[in-house]
Amino acid sequence: MNQTDATRGRFITFEGIDGAGKSTHIGYVTSLLKGAGKRVVSTREPGGTPLGEKLRDLVLHEKMHLETEALIMFASRREHVAQVVEPAIARGDWVLSDRFTDASFAYQGGGRGLDRAKLDALEQWVHPHLQPDLTLLFDVPLDVARARLSATRALDKFEMEQADFFARVRGEYLRRAAESNGRIVVIDSTQTIDEVRAALQAALESWL
Ligand code: TMP
Repeated sequence: MNQTDATRGRFITFEGIDGAGKSTHIGYVTSLLKGAGKRVVSTREPGGTPLGEKLRDLVLHEKMHLETEALIMFASRREHVAQVVEPAIARGDWVLSDRFTDASFAYQGGGRGLDRAKLDALEQWVHPHLQPDLTLLFDVPLDVARARLSATRALDKFEMEQADFFARVRGEYLRRAAESNGRIVVIDSTQTIDEVRAALQAALESWL
């Protein structure tokens, strides 16, 4: 992006296994940023555009080949990056996305075992020059996540997966966090809401 750091917005993503509690905390980060005078665009993947929401409905509910699943995630992402994320950052807005490409590496790569080289190629194709400025990874042990999930609504295709699937997804998220040079900040989501909020404030401090 040929824009100075002062005029471009920022791209923050939220990740974690299903049931890790990230959705609860996105609203808090939004209010922190708005309180600091930022213009915030909240969005999600898969989805975030009219076409992306149709693809979301398909990919969360239909059985399909694992490569089809990965391609749909990246098709939705291509539209999202072009229509929402890049224009907002160029306007100087702060984009908060509930999931992005780390989820494809964790779920399709870690969870389903798709070859990482294929995911690298898709990432290079779909957003060669865009990475999140900050990723907040909400982390909880599997049993806590399962208990939270079963207490909520009807489960989608991913949420119905078995414990070993989520163990691989979580493992891949944590591996990426360790290799991310600080881009991915792990938030211990077993803490109380106030403790999580304090951790979020600390993670965002240098940005506010
Ligand atoms: P959500 O329930 O957090 O909105 O996410 C929808 C599901 O889609 C969640 O189970 C994770 C999954 N997912 C992938 O498998 N790959 C991806 O690239 C993305 C963005 C989500």
